[in-house]
Amino acid sequence: MERPRTVSGMRPTGPLHLGHYFGVLKNYVALQHSEEAYFFVADWHALTSDYADPSNIRENITEMVKDWVAAGLDPAQCVIFRQSAVKEHAELSLLLSMITPVSWLERNPTYKEQQQQITNKDLGNAGFLCYPVLMAADILMYRPHGVPVGEDQLPHMELTREIARRFNYLYGENTFPEPQAMLTPAAKCPGLDGRKMSKSYNNGIFLRDTLADIEPKVKTMFTDKNRLRKSDPGNPDVCNLFPYHVLLASPEEQEEIRQGCTNASMGCVDCKKRFLAHLAAFLEPLQARRAGLSDARVAEILDDGNERARAFATRTLDMVRSRMGL
Ligand code: TRP
Repeated sequence: MERPRTVSGMRPTGPLHLGHYFGVLKNYVALQHSEEAYFFVADWHALTSDYADPSNIRENITEMVKDWVAAGLDPAQCVIFRQSAVKEHAELSLLLSMITPVSWLERNPTYKEQQQQITNKDLGNAGFLCYPVLMAADILMYRPHGVPVGEDQLPHMELTREIARRFNYLYGENTFPEPQAMLTPAAKCPGLDGRKMSKSYNNGIFLRDTLADIEPKVKTMFTDKNRLRKSDPGNPDVCNLFPYHVLLASPEEQEEIRQGCTNASMGCVDCKKRFLAHLAAFLEPLQARRAGLSDARVAEILDDGNERARAFATRTLDMVRSRMGL
């Protein structure tokens, strides 16, 4: 029986943290059972912004695949591959660039925002401007109905649909179905300091963190800033820790913690202890799986996935080339 198809990728920019897990990766793990799923390491996309110092990319690729498999992606259930190993993505990106107006790329909100916010890198390169065309190629290649991504990717998804529509208009209806973003049901996962969890803010809890790494991090987490003493009633809705109980504790325990906080019977220190226990229980099986994964096993997973992705990509490109008159 044919399953609906989905595809998604992540840039190998460093170790994955809880924000990645609850924002996107958890969705990948669920989808591998219901969909024909393609998940890839977007190493070309990493180069669009990190071209000046690519020294970590290779290691990051291997480590990211380990994080994925540790989190529950099963290479027997989905296709795990590397973007740069399936050259068809580059060819489709080139062909799509023929029909993509530069103005669409320049007005992309993500592009403008990152140009302004990222000041330690020169993002005036053509590759960075064309980031969304490559992303559209990654997606449309597999003609999926949906793409599991975080909210930050919505402008890119919109552009992908615009490119698909334009292709269909020029070269034939229903070449590319218009793919929808599949967002994870609202998962709030703030960083240790309350800002968005991000490697560049240095406020993350990583999937590969040991208990010794995590303990001091949790100690420094903000709770309700107005709660100075244990005898003050707290407010879980402004606490930086409570969203984690929502992700990791049972509904009954969440309610118990909410009560304990608001009636001042449970202090922040105890609340953090509970969080640590849940976090350790969550990370333990991930890390056990990770420990059993050698670099050689990752290479094998990617070799196999690259081949399966290529088999699909070849068929799409045959059709695209011929529709574009080549
Ligand atoms: N832009 C995505 C990110 O930063 C990575 C990505 C590249 C991607 N190509 C993709 C995601 C295709 C989904 C589908 O996370």
